[in-house]
Amino acid sequence: MAQELSAADKAKAAAAERSVEFVEDGMRLGLGTGSTAAFMVRALGRRIREEGLRITGVPTSYATGQLAREQGIDVITLDEAGWLDLTIDGADEFDPRLTLIKGGGGAHLQEKIVASASSRMIVIADAGKRVEELGAFPLPVEVLKFGERASEALIRRALTVLDMGDAEITPRMRGAERLVTDEGNHILDLHLGRIGNPRALSAALNQVPGVVENGLFIDLCDTVIVGHEDGNSEIV
Ligand code: 5RP
Repeated sequence: MAQELSAADKAKAAAAERSVEFVEDGMRLGLGTGSTAAFMVRALGRRIREEGLRITGVPTSYATGQLAREQGIDVITLDEAGWLDLTIDGADEFDPRLTLIKGGGGAHLQEKIVASASSRMIVIADAGKRVEELGAFPLPVEVLKFGERASEALIRRALTVLDMGDAEITPRMRGAERLVTDEGNHILDLHLGRIGNPRALSAALNQVPGVVENGLFIDLCDTVIVGHEDGNSEIV
């Protein structure tokens, strides 16, 4: 018997269902990572089975790739695709300018590369992800394992210059172990509280040697679909 969805999952599913209406036959898609994106991948699978939709998908994580294959999506690499028509992904926070924090699932590096190689990016989210100012959600920063403590000290220095020197920096864990990303790196989470200038922060972080990518997505997303637990959705 199918399990009843929680209220949060109903909202995620509503956004996901609406997002796949933007998908047209023959499209090359970027497939996001996370629980909301997983609803979208399953909704795409349903369209493939019911309508014979033909799409190719570039997953943004190992987990999404596995799910996409199970759903009958033709999975290719970004290099094989070259350029993508559309990426659909979740987010941890979005603000009124549609700037995002991503990486709660540890996949923001591949997600940012894929979104940047797409003609458009649609984000799917529940209403709890909408904020006036980014930063309550800890900002993920993917770092090389080599010299990680030096990179952390340089991140601290960069934050101090931007008047955020008091922020806590915590290593991302998976149980008792450090989380290792699909690219073999570690993640540091920056507990900033508020991010006054995402562009300045992103630039400063990405200048630190050892930082691979931060979770701020600026000028990448053009549409957010907010799902509600009653099954409705709105476009922001
Ligand atoms: C993964 C992400 C996810 O899109 C983000 O964490 C949202 O996840 P969820 O849909 O499970 O709330 O950025 O790196």
